[in-house]
Amino acid sequence: MTENLLYEGKAKKVFTTDEPDVLLHAYKDDATAFNAKKRGSWEGKGKTNATISAALFSYLEQHGVPTHFIEQVDETTVKTKRLEMLPVEVIVRNLAAGSITRLLGFEEGRRFKAPIVELCYKNDDLGDPLVNWHHLRELGVSDEDLEFCEELGLKVNSILAPFFRERGITLVDFKIEVGKDRDGQAMLADEISPDTCRFWDAGTNEKLDKDRFRNDLGGVAEAYAEMLRRVTGC
Ligand SMILES: Nc1ncnc2c1ncn2[C@@H]1O[C@H](COP(=O)(O)OP(=O)(O)OP(=O)(O)O)[C@@H](O)[C@H]1O
Ligand SMILES: [Mg+2]
Repeated sequence: MTENLLYEGKAKKVFTTDEPDVLLHAYKDDATAFNAKKRGSWEGKGKTNATISAALFSYLEQHGVPTHFIEQVDETTVKTKRLEMLPVEVIVRNLAAGSITRLLGFEEGRRFKAPIVELCYKNDDLGDPLVNWHHLRELGVSDEDLEFCEELGLKVNSILAPFFRERGITLVDFKIEVGKDRDGQAMLADEISPDTCRFWDAGTNEKLDKDRFRNDLGGVAEAYAEMLRRVTGC
């Protein structure tokens, strides 16, 4: 099979394949935070993120969510449909953490009355700013796609929050991306992993996600490995 590097991001390399509508996502051991101002790497990160993301996408598919997921090919590689990505990051929050604590002065850990959906413009140079429908319309995103993004975010949350609760994890917040196939069908894309979610142990509130790396809390590899165990049971 001929593979060509299509895109190298901060966490993954994306390759085209012989099949025009199929991509391979090769998860790297690299980590970045604060819009790539902080960089690091640890052994096993690619494996944990690829495997957690594959398991969650497969679970979401089984629960009626359209996704780009095809199969996990090896420890660090996932096969997906090739999509045209929307320039949007969809964030769903159940508890306050990260940027919303600064934006609205919320204390970390405040549980929201209902999940809060935020839309960001996916643009590294601008630091993925928080925007609204008016901004995104001006940037060429249709109302139909924006509605899809918000509904998808809430649906993913309604499936994953109980999934993690059963595994002793509080799903604090997460970020997803959306793309469209050749037929214009929108679906969940990219990854769902400790890089893109906040996971707290439900008993102790211990952080089991990228905040350990962002804030130099130590035990980063161990936290990701623990999340792999909670998700896959091994
Ligand atoms: N199914 C898909 N088809 C096409 N592109 C995809 C698909 N799923 C994810 N992508 C894109 O592939 C890239 C994945 O690489 P990575 O996660 O390393 O990017 P990143 O460094 O986080 O950068 P970015 O800010 O672009 O997300 C992202 O740009 C993501 O939007
Ligand atoms: Mg990414």
